[in-house]
Amino acid sequence: MPNEYSQLCPVLFGEGAADKLPEKIAAFGGGPVLFITDPGIRGTGLVDRMADAVRAAGFDADVFDGVEADAPDTTIDACDAKVLKKKAYRVLVGVGGGSSLDSAKAIAVLAENPGPVAKYFMTWQSGREVKLILIPTNSGTGSEVTPMCVIHDTVNNIKTGILRPADYAIVDPALTVSAPPKVTAYTGMDALSHAVEAYTCTAANVHSDLLALQCVRLIAQNLRAACADGKNMAARSALAFASNIAGIAFAESSVHAGHAIAHETGVVLEQPHGLICALVTPVVIEYSAPCFPERMVALAEALGVAGATPEAAGKLAADAVRALARDLGIPSLKSMGIARADVVACAAGAVEHNIFINTAPKPTGVPEVEMLLGQMYDTY
Ligand SMILES: [Fe+2]
Repeated sequence: MPNEYSQLCPVLFGEGAADKLPEKIAAFGGGPVLFITDPGIRGTGLVDRMADAVRAAGFDADVFDGVEADAPDTTIDACDAKVLKKKAYRVLVGVGGGSSLDSAKAIAVLAENPGPVAKYFMTWQSGREVKLILIPTNSGTGSEVTPMCVIHDTVNNIKTGILRPADYAIVDPALTVSAPPKVTAYTGMDALSHAVEAYTCTAANVHSDLLALQCVRLIAQNLRAACADGKNMAARSALAFASNIAGIAFAESSVHAGHAIAHETGVVLEQPHGLICALVTPVVIEYSAPCFPERMVALAEALGVAGATPEAAGKLAADAVRALARDLGIPSLKSMGIARADVVACAAGAVEHNIFINTAPKPTGVPEVEMLLGQMYDTY
């Protein structure tokens, strides 16, 4: 079947790429510029150094550092009230992890449209008077190249979002060096889950397959090394690239049951996104494998399992992901004292709140997700 592939957002990739930010702002016509980040990243001094460089290039620059974990809608509306209403920003620059990049996308919508942000949930926004540049500081979400931002709807206590792609992405592996091992592990497993789900969903295409398999290969080969030594630049560069291309892959393909589960359980059980991604990905592989056994051979190979038969490849690939998670010290839900029944009870919400459950490789409703949640609990 013919399928279209594309890339939404140009990317400047490589060590030192972040130094080019003032040039890019000039190319977009200049400021005023608003940086959007969280207090932790602000505390490293990175964003203030970037803002100083932008000012030195002759542009007005301010910093909003109120981003909170999981990008609650309240943060976006607070930025609108306290910051956007006071100045007409021309360029927004999101710097940080997924929450900062996703908050920046939503704030970009309010820079061109009246709030509150909830008015725009699950809509496509393509204003573009205000330019949005995204600069990740860890290797996980790929949000810099996906249209979607994941926002916590605090009224309904669900993860929802807005489709607002960035206008430019700067991926500089040097910015990821200070991420601690736990963050590196969780974000790496998030990127791995994007690639696996992009490869196993019904929307996969020849281009997304290429990117997804290369992402899997790079993570299998480099995530342990980056967690063991954060200053290993070869590993950091490989992971930064892997995360970015996984973002492109799932933006043009999709995610499916794994992210439906990760979004719902992340909110209900209050667990980090990357942790749930690590635990659910092996189960997603085993669930998908019977739909296309031949394709699983390439996935297993990318995970370092050579010579698997189509019948065995799914189980071997899943076990390779479990081994990686164990090597990284990712804890089980049991070990955290979470009850199996509370995990399985997330099934209905996972199906109801996540439209991309429909791109799972076979019809997937509440009974199937209950089974997947039970397996996620039992098999790790
Ligand atoms: Fe994710």
